Amino acid sequence: MQKAEIQKIYSRYSCFYDIIFSQFFYPRIRLGLEKIGIKNGDRIIEVGVGTGLSLSLYPQSCKVVGIDITRKMLEKAKAKKEKFGFNHVDLFEMDGENICFDDNSFDHAVLPFVASVVPSVEQLMSEVKRVTKKGGKIIIINHLSSKLSFISSMEKLLTPVFMKLGWRTGLSVDTFSNHCNLHIEEVLKKYRLDPWFILHATNR
Ligand SMILES: C[S@@+](CC[C@H](N)C(=O)[O-])C[C@H]1O[C@@H](n2cnc3c(N)ncnc32)[C@H](O)[C@@H]1O
Repeated sequence: MQKAEIQKIYSRYSCFYDIIFSQFFYPRIRLGLEKIGIKNGDRIIEVGVGTGLSLSLYPQSCKVVGIDITRKMLEKAKAKKEKFGFNHVDLFEMDGENICFDDNSFDHAVLPFVASVVPSVEQLMSEVKRVTKKGGKIIIINHLSSKLSFISSMEKLLTPVFMKLGWRTGLSVDTFSNHCNLHIEEVLKKYRLDPWFILHATNR
């Protein structure tokens, strides 16, 4: 998927995104964030912040920078920031594959449900590792291909449908550990057959 198409699809979603997705995504983002152990003053980047579903989960004592390429999704996140007074949150229209921050700008990085949306997950991870301090946590929450051959064949078959809906399939733990050279400490799931995984990695 090219960026213009991603922006078009997520602009369409923006008005009803929370109604459909928050019930699935919010509890899994919460689980992922618990793994960081956020400390007072930590600077955290969230890539693909979307409508800001996660924003209420960050303590006011940290600093959060949320970036996204879809303006209409970001507008929803900005409305939440205003409504709930999230003064510890800054939001920018910015590409996760080309992050406009210096090296080592953040203590930790969070990527909820964005890795299977971007055109190049390798470029995304390279940028995330660059802006995150060494030893910082990188939390990825995403659908990964099933190890059950029947389900993974179904996923492959449905790829054109998923692409139209705004994401692709085919990512695996191997994509992140080998292709993106990420040091994964733990792979978690909310429950055993959950299609969404939480990868808890350390930036090395
Ligand atoms: C499935 S939504 C997830 C939104 C949010 N993280 C959540 O959990 O609800 C994917 C988001 O990633 C954004 N996105 C896609 N490609 C991106 C990129 N290259 N850089 C930043 N954001 C991107 C989309 O605009 C969309 O808002």
